[in-house]
Amino acid sequence: MTESPRTVGSTAVGSTSVGSSAVGSAAAGSTGEADRPPVSLADFADLARATLPPGIWDFIDGGSGVETTLTANRAALDRVAVLPRVLTGVERPRTDAVLLGREQALPVAVAPMAYQRLLHPDGEPALAAAAGAAGVPYVLSTLSSTPIDEVIAATDGPVWFQLYWLRDRGLVADLLDRAHTAGCAALMVTVDVPVLGRRLRDVRGGFALPPEVTTANLPTGRDDLAHTGTPGVSAIAAHTEAVFAPALTWADLAWLRERTRLPLLVKGILDPRDAVRAADVGVDAVVVSNHGGRQFDGAPATATMLPEVVAAVGDRVEVLLDSGVRSGTDVLRALALGATGVLLGRPMLWALAAGGRSGARAALDLLAVELRDALTLTGCADPAQARRLRTLTGG
Ligand SMILES: Cc1cc2nc3c(=O)[nH]c(=O)nc-3n(C[C@H](O)[C@H](O)[C@H](O)COP(=O)(O)O)c2cc1C
Repeated sequence: MTESPRTVGSTAVGSTSVGSSAVGSAAAGSTGEADRPPVSLADFADLARATLPPGIWDFIDGGSGVETTLTANRAALDRVAVLPRVLTGVERPRTDAVLLGREQALPVAVAPMAYQRLLHPDGEPALAAAAGAAGVPYVLSTLSSTPIDEVIAATDGPVWFQLYWLRDRGLVADLLDRAHTAGCAALMVTVDVPVLGRRLRDVRGGFALPPEVTTANLPTGRDDLAHTGTPGVSAIAAHTEAVFAPALTWADLAWLRERTRLPLLVKGILDPRDAVRAADVGVDAVVVSNHGGRQFDGAPATATMLPEVVAAVGDRVEVLLDSGVRSGTDVLRALALGATGVLLGRPMLWALAAGGRSGARAALDLLAVELRDALTLTGCADPAQARRLRTLTGG
């Protein structure tokens, strides 16, 4: 696996070395800026933005419509104040947690994200390897630009398979078989993409995949659509419309539940009533998600809906949150609002773009340092205790 040339050597974050984080120099040339190690996940965004072609940056950064929901996700997390406890005698909290019955280093998984070879030639295998080394699950998208087997072979850690429902149910069954055979540890079905949200940055620019980035797991014969962009039409949206099933029902989810013994997560839940129905079908977890503000622009922030979903189903299924998580403090906020864990989206793409596998590892190590700090400062011995903290909204 090739590493990015952007190597700045061993970077210390807090008291923890984040290893040889391949981040920093190319983006900022040979100026003093170059040697400054990233000290927040936002620093990786700056590096990625300086590195990526504008159209690819817009594809990962953008939301749908006028990006109301994208902005709301961050604003809602910022409004969550967490009441610290004192005199708890905690010196060095643990950060490990159990998700889906399995221990992991952090209450975090890498969110499923399409076409990772857009960001770095090593793509999905690099990000999966970084997640495995950091001790967190990697969720492999149906729209991966690397075959499932190659991704699994690249990591010792758990890989969860994310399913987009395709028009051709035979292909869905085939994908599920391949995910099972390859050794995926869980199945996550995404239910908030009946069509792709209108992501205006991509539509304006006629965003299309370059020839070397393909949907490596989808023998639909429609890949050409994803590669043919014209201003005013997003090629990705055209491809999605051709291959995704638009009108799923609860019966489809029940079919899936019967078909797999793997832990099953449903991603894209916002309404507590839907969370209850999902729990009734027998899923193991729901992911409170608005797709990082990329689907219905006008949906509420996930931090706003999380407490209601936890109140409705938190005693029956695990409840994860994504959309806007950017720091260890945000992970703690989600836990304090009742989540069992979070998915980390764009920050992992920024780190992949900035430094390949070691960049992604550095970002996860930084998140671990931040979470440990947040737990220490709120008097918690571990993530489970953070779920008992009080929150106030409004700062
Ligand atoms: C570039 C990109 C591609 C994505 N591709 C997928 C995907 O293939 N499947 C999926 O379920 N979600 C996908 N998502 C949504 C993420 O899984 C996650 O819900 C979202 O990124 C979380 O928000 P955040 O980026 O603000 O952390 C994608 C998000 C981005 C930014």
